[in-house]
Amino acid sequence: MKGVILAGGKGTRLYPLTYATNKHLLPIYDQPMVYYPINTLVAAGITEVLIVTGDVHAGHFINVIKNGHDLGLTHVEYAYQEGGSAGIADALKYAEDFADGEPIAVILGDNTTDADISGAVKNFKDGAMVFLKEVVDPERFGNPIFAKDDSSRIETIVEKPASPANKLAVTGLYFYDHTVYDKIRNLKPSGRGELEITDVNNAYIAENKMQWSMLDGFWSDAGTFHSLYRSNRYWAIKKLGDKYDDVCSGIDVPGLK
Ligand code: DAU
Repeated sequence: MKGVILAGGKGTRLYPLTYATNKHLLPIYDQPMVYYPINTLVAAGITEVLIVTGDVHAGHFINVIKNGHDLGLTHVEYAYQEGGSAGIADALKYAEDFADGEPIAVILGDNTTDADISGAVKNFKDGAMVFLKEVVDPERFGNPIFAKDDSSRIETIVEKPASPANKLAVTGLYFYDHTVYDKIRNLKPSGRGELEITDVNNAYIAENKMQWSMLDGFWSDAGTFHSLYRSNRYWAIKKLGDKYDDVCSGIDVPGLK
């Protein structure tokens, strides 16, 4: 499977941080945000990756990712999303040539997780797959509604519901087969003027071609001040281990730069 990281958009919710660069190049503890989705893909054996980005800071990516070899990538391509922020599904349309008929693993560039998705990658054949996570604020995400007669089947996904049906978020990690591009071509912009990934997922659900799995481990987006801070804190604690408290109290920890 090939990988696609969607790192476009304007990052307006993080102004003024994103005046100077693209959101996905901001730090999450000791790495630029976009390294995390790359790490997730590489750990799952996916080393051919397309980065879709756009807007005025698009050129900054090449300085940070370069040819990707230091990160474990064997092949990296870049695509430029016209118009800056026409939606996640709009950004995904640029992956069609790169995918060349193969299935793709898509990760939103502001999502970080320590989940191991290698088993799911190996088993994926066709249709689509979404990964769910219990969250405290499901109204900020795609929210899956399960069929009344079959609780293992997602009946529909509602994007940012005012009254969520449950505590689940559809995370920004998706597997799609080659039919995704036709589905994107059939989309109409939503109320917020974007081509929505939730509409793509609902098109797979309508064809009975959607699988789902719970995501094991930590997962968060980082597109708001709170979620950016939460992600930084999680990864700092995880990477520093028992040195975290000493670092936060200003103690000079031996062996740490
Ligand atoms: O984080 C998971 C959530 O991401 C899902 O639960 C939602 O269903 C999905 O719509 C999305 O919600 P957000 O409103 O949080 O998405 P946001 O606009 O913040 O975009 C997330 C990433 O997608 C962003 O970091 C880069 C990429 N993106 C977004 C847009 C609007 C693009 O590449 N191009 C775009 O035009």
